[in-house]
Order: sequence, then C-alpha cells, then structure tokens
Amino acid sequence: MTTVGAMGEVPPGKLPVLVTYMEMARRPETPERPVPDGVAGPVLARRCTLAYYRFLYDTIGEPWLWEIRRRMDQTELARILADPEVEVHVIHVDGMPAGFVELDWRLLPADGTVAINYLGLMTWAIGRGLGAWLLDWTVHRAWERPRVRRLTINTCSFDHPAALPLYLRAGFRRLRQDRKVVDDPRRTGVLPQTAGPHIPLAAPVPAATSPLGQTIPPQIGDPPRRPMAFRP
Ligand SMILES: CC(C)(COP(=O)(O)OP(=O)(O)OC[C@H]1O[C@@H](n2cnc3c(N)ncnc32)[C@H](O)[C@@H]1OP(=O)(O)O)[C@@H](O)C(=O)NCCC(=O)NCCS
Repeated sequence: MTTVGAMGEVPPGKLPVLVTYMEMARRPETPERPVPDGVAGPVLARRCTLAYYRFLYDTIGEPWLWEIRRRMDQTELARILADPEVEVHVIHVDGMPAGFVELDWRLLPADGTVAINYLGLMTWAIGRGLGAWLLDWTVHRAWERPRVRRLTINTCSFDHPAALPLYLRAGFRRLRQDRKVVDDPRRTGVLPQTAGPHIPLAAPVPAATSPLGQTIPPQIGDPPRRPMAFRP
C-alpha cells in the first residue's frame, strides 16, 4: 500500500519531503536589530555537552521531525560538538533556554562558506519575533569573520511554515529544491508517534513474510533502517 500526498505516492513507512537549499552571498546592509526585551544571549555553549545539545535539539526539533542528530552515531555527534568551529549559541527567555542556532565554520577555510546548520525555538517561544531577530543576529555574526563568501541554510517542508519566508526576507535565495522520500522517524522508532503532529503519519510497514508465507518477526540485531539525510 502506498500513501498518496501532495507530492505523489510513497511506499509504506515513507514520507515525501521537499528540501530547500539556500544561500546568502552578500553581507546585509541593514543594521543589526536590538536584542528583544526579556531575552538574554545568545550565549555560546562552549564545548557543548551531548546532553545539553540533545535537550535543545530534541525539545525544539521533535514537533518538526528533526531526527538526524538523534539517530546519528552519538560519538560522532560529540566529536562535532567538541570542534571549536561548530558553535552552539543559545538564547534564554525568563531564565529558560528558548532557542538555539548552530553555526558551522568548518568549510570557511576551503571555500568561504559558513553553514547555519540549525536554527530553532522552543514551541512556547515561537511567534514573538525572536526567530527574525535570532536569524538577523546570526547573519551579522557570520559576516564578521574575514574571508566569508557566503552563508548557507536549508529548510524542509516539515519545518515551521515561517522559516522559508523568513530566510527569503533576510536575504537568502533558493539555490535548489530536492524532493526526497525519507523513512518516517515515527515508524522507525527514532521519534515518538506524537512528534510532528502537522505531518500525517506514514502508512505502517507490513510485517515481512517468508517465501512460505510465514510472518518473520524482526530479529534482534537487525540494523535500524536509516532515513535519508537532508541536513548536514
Ligand atoms: C522558523 C522560526 C525560527 C521562526 O521564528 P518565529 O519567532 O516563530 O518567527 P517570528 O515571530 O520572528 O516571525 C517571522 C515572520 O514569519 C511570519 N510568520 C509567522 N507564522 C507564519 C506562517 N505560518 N507562515 C508564513 N509566515 C509566518 C511572521 O508574520 C513574521 O513576519 P514579519 O517579520 O513580516 O512580521 C520558528 O518558528 C522556529 O524555530 N520554528 C521551529 C523550528 C524550525 O522550523 N526551524 C527552522 C528550521 S530551518
């Protein structure tokens, strides 16, 4: 059985997603926006621990099906976080972490690229103008370094609908859009079924059957199915 969505038919357990890759190749001329009232930060989480990062990523990302950093090798993730060229900047509202941006300078020496790997707010902090300000702060900070030629960011159709128009207004342009079919992380067990309530759950994957027609239960040690990556 296949699921039919706006982007066509996909097999059981799968979801269609549209990924938009964007870049900003010119430094903005607008002055930096002031920090909104009641906001502290951004604060650089220096040598961000895996636990703190996963708290931010999981809490912010779960409603939007962010899953890549959940399912990737956690030793590898810790290695990325320990790299001083990957910066996690956290904003606080009323003393609580309210959002973060992850700036990745690792490509800067090679080709002048600064990647905004993630930008997101806690659900309770969405819709107050903090996203527009945090993006503006990020863009200004990124262009401060010498030899920056371009900033990149991407967003997908699972993300908040304000993201793409926000990036366009900030001066990013679409580089390309890819239609992908990915495993539904709520079917692979990477995310709970309550995640991403705005995205219809993929059709269940039928249990595997042997050539003799017997149902084969999953074996302990079966490798987890790996969704296709669409974020760095
Ligand atoms: C995307 C995100 C950062 C935007 O931040 P935000 O604080 O919610 O947005 P803001 O309140 O700053 O509003 C930004 C603009 O989006 C507009 N907007 C709000 N909801 C919108 C919607 N559903 N569709 C289109 N535009 C919308 C606002 O009107 C505002 O426009 P304006 O600047 O002209 O007034 C935030 O919603 C978020 O973190 N979402 C969850 C994680 C996510 O999707 N991150 C993006 C991953 S790439």
